[in-house]
Amino acid sequence: MNRNIIVLDTTLRDGEQVPGAKLNVNQKVEFAQQLKRLNVDIIEAGFPASSAGDFNAVREIVRTVGDSVSITALARAVKSDIDAVYESIKLAQNPFIHIVLGTSNIHVDKKFNRSKEAVLQMGVDAVKYAKTLLPEVQYSTEDASRSDFEYLWQTIEAVVKAGATIINVPDTVGYAVPEEFGDLIRRINERLKNLNENVILSVHCHNDLGLATANTLSAIHNGADKVECTINGLGERAGNTSLEEVVMGLKVRENHYHCSTRIKTTELLRTSRLLTHLTGLDVQVNKAITGENAFAHSSGIHQDGLLKDRQVYEIMSPEEVGAESMELILTARSGRHAFKNAVEKMGFDPGDAEDFEALFAKFLTLADAKKEVYDHDVFYLVTSHRTLN
Ligand code: KIV
Ligand code: ZN
Repeated sequence: MNRNIIVLDTTLRDGEQVPGAKLNVNQKVEFAQQLKRLNVDIIEAGFPASSAGDFNAVREIVRTVGDSVSITALARAVKSDIDAVYESIKLAQNPFIHIVLGTSNIHVDKKFNRSKEAVLQMGVDAVKYAKTLLPEVQYSTEDASRSDFEYLWQTIEAVVKAGATIINVPDTVGYAVPEEFGDLIRRINERLKNLNENVILSVHCHNDLGLATANTLSAIHNGADKVECTINGLGERAGNTSLEEVVMGLKVRENHYHCSTRIKTTELLRTSRLLTHLTGLDVQVNKAITGENAFAHSSGIHQDGLLKDRQVYEIMSPEEVGAESMELILTARSGRHAFKNAVEKMGFDPGDAEDFEALFAKFLTLADAKKEVYDHDVFYLVTSHRTLN
């Protein structure tokens, strides 16, 4: 039996704070509706204490999708932030408060300039206060991957005893590497199960070393039950864990992870395109799952193999993520098989062997000159060839 992994989408909180990605309330609501179609378990809708605009946007999201999707929003470990979260999400069917506080030496010394004990007490007090408002509280140990393990555990133990129901372990600056992050999660998980087996262990990774997806998958492999991600990996600096990559990683390698999500994968591409449309931020063409070229094949050897059986060079079908079909790009490297397939797909007879060779020679000349040959070029090639012959 597969273990279910809970997916929290934080595109509207951690993702939306990147330069150039500012969305207005209507755009946020439109995106939240698409997240509902995608069937995410939880939407982190914003950081209500940051501005009146953010507070209102969270409330509108709750009004629109809060009856069917669990909603959370972020608070620092201070009463006014927690109040703002509560006021903005309280009408949702399944709301919870998310509190963040650093645990690394650098956060404790430089950000708070307090003793470790005092910072830990701030966290405990914040959880106790949040629990007077809502039964579910998530606690994030910011910069966990650069924290001293015993202090990190001391914090987790104290906030769980104070009532936290989800412990989220962030790799805030994208510093962790997969074996190490997996090991950290395994150690926390072992102790957490003894402390309170009902507490959910969650992870939140950043992509500064390009390892957010790998770290998240490694954490799942080592016991994490919940992941925090964004669409297109949108987020601070090099971004957050990309939701589509983790979800498809678990789906394609189900035999390895024995885990699944409730995500409706056929909505992935549409969600990605909507985010690009709303933010104006493009996805790199070779981005896994949602890049323009993610299902495009241009090498002749690959095109020949795919035309024999798609599984030869395809680990997932484009249809599974909501793309129309695989794309064979015709270039000078495309072989006879791919070119013949394109000619036939346009409804032309490829002709006898001799005639087809002559046509293929013309195709190669054109492909050398143009680099990429499109449908209209194939149409021109065939019709002019037939007229001249
Ligand atoms: O990166 C981070 O540490 C965060 C927390 C608020 C979870 O975004
Ligand atoms: Zn983050």
